Amino acid sequence: MSKYLVTGGAGYVGSVVAQHLLEAGHTVTVLDNLSTGFRAGVPAGVDFIEGDIRDAAKWLDASYDAVLHFAAFSQVGESVVKPEKYWDNNVGGTMALLAAMRTAGVRKLVFSSTAATYGEPVNTPITETDPTAPTSPYGASKLAVDHMISGEAAAHGLAAVSLRYFNVAGAYGSCGERHDPESHLIPLVLQVAQGRREAISVFGDDYPTPDGTCVRDYIHVADLAEAHLLALDAATAGEHLICNLGNGNGFSVREVIETVRTVTGHPIPEVTAPRRGGDPAVLVASAKTAADRLGWQPRRADLAGIVADAWAFAQSLDHTS
Ligand SMILES: NC(=O)c1ccc[n+]([C@@H]2O[C@H](COP(=O)([O-])OP(=O)(O)OC[C@H]3O[C@@H](n4cnc5c(N)ncnc54)[C@H](O)[C@@H]3O)[C@@H](O)[C@H]2O)c1
Repeated sequence: MSKYLVTGGAGYVGSVVAQHLLEAGHTVTVLDNLSTGFRAGVPAGVDFIEGDIRDAAKWLDASYDAVLHFAAFSQVGESVVKPEKYWDNNVGGTMALLAAMRTAGVRKLVFSSTAATYGEPVNTPITETDPTAPTSPYGASKLAVDHMISGEAAAHGLAAVSLRYFNVAGAYGSCGERHDPESHLIPLVLQVAQGRREAISVFGDDYPTPDGTCVRDYIHVADLAEAHLLALDAATAGEHLICNLGNGNGFSVREVIETVRTVTGHPIPEVTAPRRGGDPAVLVASAKTAADRLGWQPRRADLAGIVADAWAFAQSLDHTS
């Protein structure tokens, strides 16, 4: 059994991965400054440090076998108007974390990268060797970290895996999605079902897709978590492995809305709005590298099941506080 530091483990994905690590019998410490996460979101049984990744050197020591690094800002729109906030936290924070790992002798890292590193895709599905041309400071900050990690592996022998998530969705037990403001489609549509939002905006219905709305690859957060545990096993000293994580299937915005109608029984009014800049028509992953190198296969690809899990979590939250 191993001991892991999970940065950003009070957030959505980090908390689900922390829970999976615990269930596999590992010892887990979460380091989170609660800037967008929630203390109550940290799974029971995890040691919690309220602190910033820039100060990781205060807590990191050789007793840790690896770091799983989720802590970041991830609002694409905000990154366009406040790019410095993203460079500072995502890039500066990771630089400090890598330095602390080097000093402490912690030589394994799994990093949350993103489909946003690719920008407008040149191929569908997207493979890891496709060009990276991010269209937002958020995507650029994540790509910069990927480059930083490649250098750390080559120069200093770090064993590293970057997992490029496509659209993460669903929930796992008491851990689920709670962004504020929310920018992800499924929780936004669920807010309409809960009566917390009047209608869902569909940004563009004239894309070159079967129903004219954008197509995205939704991956269940528990499938994603399983990939992190496999990545810890696959990480090899001196190598930086990059793997896309998605189902390889796309669903359109209208298909998602229709699925939420079916799952919740709510009519979900929709309003068609103009396209947003920087939204590619289709973003679908090739997860062949994750299959070949990690032995990973998604097991929860059914969209209705993903939405049902997210719905159960949304209903479990107390929105009055
Ligand atoms: N959710 C998605 O669909 C998605 C897709 C692609 C990539 N990602 C990446 O996955 C990671 C997790 O995303 P999420 O949706 O769980 O986000 P989240 O906002 O729910 O979680 C991020 C956590 O990091 C913490 N944090 C931020 N800066 C910190 C710092 N300097 N020091 C300590 N803690 C800090 C926040 O308090 C929060 O708990 C992020 O790196 C994100 O870029 C997410």
